[in-house]
Amino acid sequence: MEQKSTHATLDKIISLCKRKGFVFQTAEIYGGLNGVYDFGHLGFLLRENIKQAWKKSIENDLGEIYTLEGSLLGVHRMWEASGHVENFHDPMIDCKNCKKRFRADDDSMDINKCCPDCGIKNWTEVRNFNLMFKTEVGAVSDGSAYAYLRPETAQTIFINFKNMMTTNRAKLPFGVAQIGKSFRNEITPKQFLFRLREFEQMELEWFCKEETSMDMFNFWLEKRREFYKNIGLNMDKIRFHAHSKEELAHYSVCCTDIEYQFPFGFKELEGIAHRGTFDLTQHSKFSGKDLAVFDEETKTSSTPVVVETSVGVDRLFLTVLFDAYYEDEMDGETRVVLKLDPTIAPIKLAIFPLTKKLEEPAHNLFKEIRKSIPHIQFDVTGSIGKRYRRQDEIGTPFCITYDFESEVDKAVTIRDRDTGKQERVAIAEILSYLTQHNITK
Ligand code: GAP
Repeated sequence: MEQKSTHATLDKIISLCKRKGFVFQTAEIYGGLNGVYDFGHLGFLLRENIKQAWKKSIENDLGEIYTLEGSLLGVHRMWEASGHVENFHDPMIDCKNCKKRFRADDDSMDINKCCPDCGIKNWTEVRNFNLMFKTEVGAVSDGSAYAYLRPETAQTIFINFKNMMTTNRAKLPFGVAQIGKSFRNEITPKQFLFRLREFEQMELEWFCKEETSMDMFNFWLEKRREFYKNIGLNMDKIRFHAHSKEELAHYSVCCTDIEYQFPFGFKELEGIAHRGTFDLTQHSKFSGKDLAVFDEETKTSSTPVVVETSVGVDRLFLTVLFDAYYEDEMDGETRVVLKLDPTIAPIKLAIFPLTKKLEEPAHNLFKEIRKSIPHIQFDVTGSIGKRYRRQDEIGTPFCITYDFESEVDKAVTIRDRDTGKQERVAIAEILSYLTQHNITK
């Protein structure tokens, strides 16, 4: 097999996602909505597998992890406390001629030049645009009931810190993890799933004592590196970018971004931040509720420090697709293949009868295996080569062919997606073969 290189471009990934039902533009039949997408069957399964892998990756020996599902709507005061009302904005500029809106700090933007859309130079002043979606709750419209769709999941963890600590009888250090939707009214959503207006985050807020916090920060950096390695990303495309003082967000003591080399450059995939005591202190101040923790040993009260790890499901989804996309040659044919790690591949296995005549016994085998591995497919149409290509394109790690010999030797042929190698395996041994190759539920 000739390994040609990834050849992944944004256009190819978008086209594959649509063709195979991973991702659809939302409300496409109405013209769409910029920066918002729907996920089809394969997209849903891939997301679920990414989330499962993330949940597993944060298990650790230092402390417990508790989970929270916070609300999407948050009160005005909470977002004032977090600093989002005052600070969560991007510089925006409009073209007065074509009315197109741009982010003034975008890499591709130069306000000394003409508008890239209409070619005329007639800009407004640069002004700050708050990225939160604001709404009013209830029937009264006197401004007393402003609420915001959350722009990050983190704050719902901070405002529930005491609830989580007391109900779980938690001891420091411990973590609160959350996977959920966040919303940002991005001025220019772009690069498909990279910058969205509605997206999902996987965030861990790790509460610890001040004196251990730098060790904890370094611990989580390494844990996160391990995660990307375990889900099979090409680690040559991953780099860590430690923020300089000027780059730090208003809440951060220190911060490192994990960046991935996309075709459009190295970009942030995940942020790991030492947030100090900023969030709990602010929420104590604004709510009037004490969020400090009393230490029975030292008989003193102090506010825990937070180390945060935060990655977008959608951005990671796009990353694994870029990373897994290859065009290579197999059996003299060019093919598109997603070399997804078996743990995150949406479909784990496909089963084919060699001919229609063998459909019944092959389908019985399919039904049997599906009891242990639910996400598998059965395909009878087209040549075996065509069926392989269909599965390669969606990243299915193994294909089983049930042939006339199978009736006699009670064995099947299992073909490996990446090498094309075929092995004869006894039907009774299929499940243990798959387990050995990381294919489980
Ligand atoms: N609580 C910290 C926080 O939200 P962030 O750097 O703004 O920090 C964390 O976001 C992660 O969320 C990013 O690294 C990225 O993976 C994802 N993310 C942020 N904004 C996004 C957007 N508009 N579209 C898709 N993913 C986004």
